[in-house]
Amino acid sequence: MSNSQPNYEAMFSGVIGKDYDLLKLICPASIEMSRRVGETVATYPPAQNSPLKVVELGGGTGITTLAILSAAGNIELLSIDNEPTMQDQAKHNLKPWVDEGKLSFSGRDALSALQQLPAASVHVVASAYTLHNFPGDYRVRVVEEIFRVLVPGGWLVNGDRYALDDITEHTRSIQKEVGGYFKVLTELNRIDLLEHWIVHLFNDESENHVMRETPALSGLENAGFTSIKLSNRQEVNALVTAVKPGSMAV
Ligand SMILES: C[S@@+](CC[C@H](N)C(=O)[O-])C[C@H]1O[C@@H](n2cnc3c(N)ncnc32)[C@H](O)[C@@H]1O
Repeated sequence: MSNSQPNYEAMFSGVIGKDYDLLKLICPASIEMSRRVGETVATYPPAQNSPLKVVELGGGTGITTLAILSAAGNIELLSIDNEPTMQDQAKHNLKPWVDEGKLSFSGRDALSALQQLPAASVHVVASAYTLHNFPGDYRVRVVEEIFRVLVPGGWLVNGDRYALDDITEHTRSIQKEVGGYFKVLTELNRIDLLEHWIVHLFNDESENHVMRETPALSGLENAGFTSIKLSNRQEVNALVTAVKPGSMAV
């Protein structure tokens, strides 16, 4: 299924349900980012007669997972998430793709799930809005494991919160974001969710979690990645792609 189909939006709403509709109101940039992650994954040069092997970190309720599955045809996707209440929704929402043999799940945490995979066995590791949740030292280890499991020529595709290097500008961006949460969630009378989002934001912005652009990209370089690009920045949201050096052959 291609993203250009007019019912793409309706399909997401139908498959993921209320969760998708609410996120679209609270954080439309994140929905757009999942779509971009899916489209980018689908441009990986296809291997002859074998499926595109993709690992997704932090599948949540399945929004990014669906974006990847919708954009790529011949695919084997392993979606990892260590929060069962989230992953159970994805399992329910995306059952048709499981039945087709295109999708499987791991309930382990990202690091130990990656550690279980053989080296050079995955074409693309994709993720949206997950790596920024990791404490910095855990994220470094995850990035090293991503590099290990990728085939030479394999890609990392991560749509996420990349904090701006300019701290004053970053603070302004977060203030604008908080203003948006208050506007949308008070109108919806969802003070419970407002509290949840603000509390979570403190976690994202804390010293040991915040994923600032330049150190994050340097971390990828230190792990061995090349062709590291940050694009599609919209406030704190940006798409990062990186390549494991080597030829594309599996
Ligand atoms: C904000 S959600 C993103 C979901 C989806 N990718 C999206 O963009 O809508 C982040 C997900 O990462 C998962 N997560 C957080 N830390 C994790 C870890 N260490 N290992 C595996 N999953 C993790 C959470 O359970 C959550 O479902």
